[in-house]
Amino acid sequence: MSDDPIVQMTGIRKDFTGVRALDGVDFTLRPGEIHAVMGENGAGKSTLIKVLTGVHAPDAGRIRLDGRPVGFHGPAAAQAAGISTVYQEVNLTDNLSVAENLFAGREPRRGPFIDFRAMRRKAKALLDDIGLDLNVAAPLSSYSIAMQQLVAIARAIDVEAKVLILDEPTSSLDRDEVEVLLGVMRRLAAQGTAMVFISHFLDQVYEICDRMTVLRNGRLVGEWATADLPENELIGHMLGREAAELEQIERTVAGHRVADEAPLASAAGLGRKGSIAPYDLDVHRGEVVGLAGLLGSGRTETVRLIAGADRADSGELRLDGAKASGHNPRTAAARGIAFCPENRKTEGLVGDLTVGENMILAMQAARGWARSVPAARRDRLVAEFIEKLDIRPADPDMPVKNLSGGNQQKVLLARWMLVEPRLLILDEPTRGIDVGAKADIQRLVAELSGEGMAVLFVSAELDEVTRLSDRIAVLRDRELIAVLESESERTVEHIVDTIVAGGRHE
Ligand SMILES: Nc1ncnc2c1ncn2[C@@H]1O[C@H](COP(=O)(O)OP(=O)(O)OP(=O)(O)O)[C@@H](O)[C@H]1O
Ligand SMILES: [Mg+2]
Repeated sequence: MSDDPIVQMTGIRKDFTGVRALDGVDFTLRPGEIHAVMGENGAGKSTLIKVLTGVHAPDAGRIRLDGRPVGFHGPAAAQAAGISTVYQEVNLTDNLSVAENLFAGREPRRGPFIDFRAMRRKAKALLDDIGLDLNVAAPLSSYSIAMQQLVAIARAIDVEAKVLILDEPTSSLDRDEVEVLLGVMRRLAAQGTAMVFISHFLDQVYEICDRMTVLRNGRLVGEWATADLPENELIGHMLGREAAELEQIERTVAGHRVADEAPLASAAGLGRKGSIAPYDLDVHRGEVVGLAGLLGSGRTETVRLIAGADRADSGELRLDGAKASGHNPRTAAARGIAFCPENRKTEGLVGDLTVGENMILAMQAARGWARSVPAARRDRLVAEFIEKLDIRPADPDMPVKNLSGGNQQKVLLARWMLVEPRLLILDEPTRGIDVGAKADIQRLVAELSGEGMAVLFVSAELDEVTRLSDRIAVLRDRELIAVLESESERTVEHIVDTIVAGGRHE
């Protein structure tokens, strides 16, 4: 491995209106190394990447690639120079096939025509190579976000990048898929590809990265070899506080449910062919029910039926004992059910609207568009949730597209929390959220359930599921296989055992 940097950024400054996103940041990347860029939501990680790849022009500073000064006028130019990027938000074209997405802009041709057969064959070989078994002719949109992300990574690998940038690629992958990805990364590193890895999963960062650069409030805190920076010190550098100050979340939820109380929502034999097998599940007032299972196990599909986002073709849902007929997103909202979906970009935020407008959308819809929410009430609620979720910048009038990925996620959560639903359904609420803010969100969920709200939530992080849930529904292969109730069952080990044992009888 040569020690000459492949990328050297010095004194980078980037201003957006009212925000100095980067302030004199230095960053050095060496061939064959995996380098983490760490920091809180809004610290400037994605902006640093976007400056490097020509999405944003820096206001000051220099960039060298292989020792030569560069300044890309866009991601295509950066890509041509050997820098491939997988952005935080999936940016592939949904309605094209998997193969078309892999080869967009560089399709194999036969004369003037695209050679679809060759393209599918090459796509299959490429995915086989990284251990992904997908139907390359199927639309990309028919796969989960996680799969879509892996396809984006496969594309980056195939263009033989000198530098590969991964901005939160693992936030929607399950354990097996993360292993696939980390394996691919190690292989690439051995071939000399340099990688920038951004992730809020500290265990992954420690497993895969050689060095770390830490940013805080747009400034460089420092650069360390991973081996020299213990986790608690890293967190301290990221948050600018002593790690010891970071209190653990106390379980404040337990015991709110009255044992003999009738359930608020009760699913009996609820199911949808090809999506989730018929299941029974109750949720009580003041109770947090977590859904655990591997990616593709049917967690999202389960909650979508209760949320009215998908239509069940068997069984029934009862709310307060009454059958919820004609259940769809509109009637579900009228029944006091709020659903915060996992894909914030396509199902969630309106980029050009402000933070405040995005937050108030669901509440406004619930009142009907003819009766607008009074300005004073609106401003008070928006300010309250900006504070509770520590949304930065704390500016209700900022277009939401200008917020960092994690802060956008918080805006979406606020939207559904502030309608004060009877049942709040959250699909992966803390994905992409930094360690400090994650604790804030978990605390808020506990607080809301303490006030009597029923909460149903999906999370790939078993720690989070066990910490927050009063009961845990475990899924496997699109089937609800167990509901864990007792304290002794609600452990990560027991959930894993249940999932593994669930397959024995097949
Ligand atoms: N296009 C933009 N216009 C205005 N402000 C922006 C723009 N893009 C980013 N910012 C601001 O720059 C700062 C840094 O954002 P950035 O996206 O780099 O954060 P991040 O470290 O990637 O955070 P996260 O972990 O949430 O993804 C934030 O205050 C953000 O609001
Ligand atoms: Mg980011």
